[in-house]
Amino acid sequence: MKIKTTVSALCLAVAAVTFAGTACAAKIGVSMPTQSLQRWNQDGSNMKAMLEQSGHTVDLQYAGDNDIPTQVNQIENMIASDVDVLVVASIDGSALTEVLKGAKDKSIPVIAYDRLIMNSDAVSYYATFDNTKVGRLQGQYIADALDLANQKGPFNVELFTGPTDDNNVNFFWGGAMEVLKPYIDNGTLVVKSGQTEKEQCATLNWNLEEAQKRMENLISSVAYGPEDTPLVAVLCQNDALACGVANALLATGYDASNMPVITGQDCDKPAVKNIVRGYQSMSVFKDTRTLAAQVVKMVNSITKGETVEVNDTTTYNNGTGVIPSFLCEPVACTKDNYKELLIESGYYSEDDL
Ligand code: BGC
Repeated sequence: MKIKTTVSALCLAVAAVTFAGTACAAKIGVSMPTQSLQRWNQDGSNMKAMLEQSGHTVDLQYAGDNDIPTQVNQIENMIASDVDVLVVASIDGSALTEVLKGAKDKSIPVIAYDRLIMNSDAVSYYATFDNTKVGRLQGQYIADALDLANQKGPFNVELFTGPTDDNNVNFFWGGAMEVLKPYIDNGTLVVKSGQTEKEQCATLNWNLEEAQKRMENLISSVAYGPEDTPLVAVLCQNDALACGVANALLATGYDASNMPVITGQDCDKPAVKNIVRGYQSMSVFKDTRTLAAQVVKMVNSITKGETVEVNDTTTYNNGTGVIPSFLCEPVACTKDNYKELLIESGYYSEDDL
């Protein structure tokens, strides 16, 4: 295989200076979407530290605040500077087709990080969390909290997703709808805004303020409020959306005693604080240390010319074929288990929260 030949040659070149059993030192380009969300800072810094521990040099770049041309430019420069492996968390999964042709031409292996890169045959591997399961955990939390299996409702809910150019959004949506759609179809759950299509629920760039504005608009158009039309749950695909929604609901008179069930994802610090205060019900914990470690493992296998460990070879087709993937496990996080998941595991300190 071409990839193996090129990188193995690199290994031979540096074999003299590496210890037996350690990965071959290589130059790794890491492209992250934004620094405005806590998780990507953690993803980037965890990966850089672990890659450096493995003896690699790392060119870590953040694309401004989700700026697609910046990301394209940064990747172009990494390719021009002959990185040995590229790790990319894309902003728009479909915007990198052209630039990655350069990686393919130079036989630079590309690992899609967290989000699948679409329509590019330059992508060698994909490492992520089980995105369908993330959605299922969110949907199931709502189903359990409202006891949908036994109650008739009707319960009013609203739905908030990320931007559909993030391929993960489709999987989060699929997982959540597996659980919730039957209840929407039989009238147990009612979406009073009528906005039940994924595209209608999308939030540009996962932006907190955008989600807050949309919730404010729904509050006025449907007349949701503690003394008005009851709102029982809001499916939010991540913590930024959940915080925006909670802000709008707090401003309209909801408090910890009557807040609708609100889901999230990432266990961002502000969201965990909201969970503790009763302003958000749950988040999905995706331990970025695990994902970073898995990608570092992939990089090390690639640079040593060894077989790369994957655990899913059927789910993620990027339009050019199925990309061999490694899916890490997401876990539901609530007031009941956040200490164990986040503090005892060393992810956060008590002071962080
Ligand atoms: C990630 C989430 C994150 C969101 C916004 C998604 O692709 O999987 O963890 O909250 O992007 O950055």
